[in-house]
Amino acid sequence: MASPERGMWGSRLGFIMAAAGSAVGLGNIWGFPTQVGQGGGAVFVLVYLLCVLLVCAPIFIAELILGRGSQKGPLGAFKKFAPNTKWWVVGALGVMCGVGILSFYAVIAGWTFAYIYYTAVGGLGTNAVEIAAFFDTFTANGPLSIALTFAFLFVTAACILGGVQAGIERVTKTLMPALIVLLLILAARALTLPGAAEGLEYYLKPDFSKAFDVNVLTAALGQAFFSLSLGMGALIVYGSYLRREDNLGMSALYVVLLDTFIALLAGFIIFPTGFSIEGFDPSASGPGLIFQVLPQLFASLPGGALFGAAFFVLLAMAALTSTISLLEVPVSHCIDQYQWPRKKAVLVLAVATFGLSIPSALGNGSVASLSNLPAALGGNFLGFMALAWNSYALPIGGFLISIFVGYRLGLDKAIAELTADNAWFPSPALWGFLIRYVSPAAIALIFLWPFISRYFS
Ligand code: PHE
Repeated sequence: MASPERGMWGSRLGFIMAAAGSAVGLGNIWGFPTQVGQGGGAVFVLVYLLCVLLVCAPIFIAELILGRGSQKGPLGAFKKFAPNTKWWVVGALGVMCGVGILSFYAVIAGWTFAYIYYTAVGGLGTNAVEIAAFFDTFTANGPLSIALTFAFLFVTAACILGGVQAGIERVTKTLMPALIVLLLILAARALTLPGAAEGLEYYLKPDFSKAFDVNVLTAALGQAFFSLSLGMGALIVYGSYLRREDNLGMSALYVVLLDTFIALLAGFIIFPTGFSIEGFDPSASGPGLIFQVLPQLFASLPGGALFGAAFFVLLAMAALTSTISLLEVPVSHCIDQYQWPRKKAVLVLAVATFGLSIPSALGNGSVASLSNLPAALGGNFLGFMALAWNSYALPIGGFLISIFVGYRLGLDKAIAELTADNAWFPSPALWGFLIRYVSPAAIALIFLWPFISRYFS
């Protein structure tokens, strides 16, 4: 049974909302369009969707199975199902991912705090050049970035101290629908701007005549993992708060669908708006893309300052429900494994993450590419962190989780957990096939692709 320091979701809807709160965040609205821009448009979108369907959705279910089956966080889950083996290392990798990802995520989340204010007071400038210049000056201000990062981590820690249900469920239940409605309004406006058609073509029509860049594969895979909060055990933790009578598999599918829908929706806003700006180059803006494009859209709306501020409020809240889950992974680990009180775990880990975030807060900028290692290392610590954790650590974690569930835990036990309490699931056998063969093979192939393609060319 759960110890008093752990918790349970109040209802199945509560779980779906919390998992969706974790999944939907900067990854969808900031990360996805940025990556599409750097990956050359529609081809990236296509690869991304395949990754979600064939690789990530099965692993999403696998993580929930490990969590609910063990009633433990990542390390504990592996220890419980494979005692006296080294499998716990996968859980340890996840705990490190939580701190590592949070350390750069909180920096960008901090920017959204500031943009609430600047949009509301109309301080971003009036044309594309001014807006872009504002972003560069703003992010070059190190002390301000550090202060904003601190503020965001502080709010995250304060929410987590409230415990599982009170902290996460309530925030997400009200804010997620509001976010979706606002995104739909923005998409409707963006699609009626001049230039929308060109933006849509870039976003939706794959250009196969261009040479295929193998980096697109790793970038899309990493982005899918990041957006779904996958590969680091966040969903093992959330699954461990899930009740036996709740339908695990269908809940997973709803969350995957919702997360993908919101990412795609963000693209329908950013690219039509971007292409309505003279000389817009989606690959050139890097991590600043949404901060430079969206203010243009707000300017084209009546009451734009209000819309803009509301948008950044909701984005900050979406980021908050994600940072909560990022911090909850190491926190639940310390509670489970070292019997720390929740308060101590939250405090120690928030402070450690803040220390680690300082280089990202200082070393960011809008220029370096997120999908190019040398450039990222040279000019941009934040870009380097995003690349290392998202494109490498998460898919490697996901690969190991799929191998663990498919071979070590075994399909019989896994499917028994998936269909516990007579839960309905479309095809448990298909899921078993995907988790055993397709997901791990696809990840391995994508990682080995640069070598394979060199061999054949
Ligand atoms: N999925 C979150 C987002 O898209 C980020 C995240 C990654 C959260 C990993 C938890 C774990 O913003």
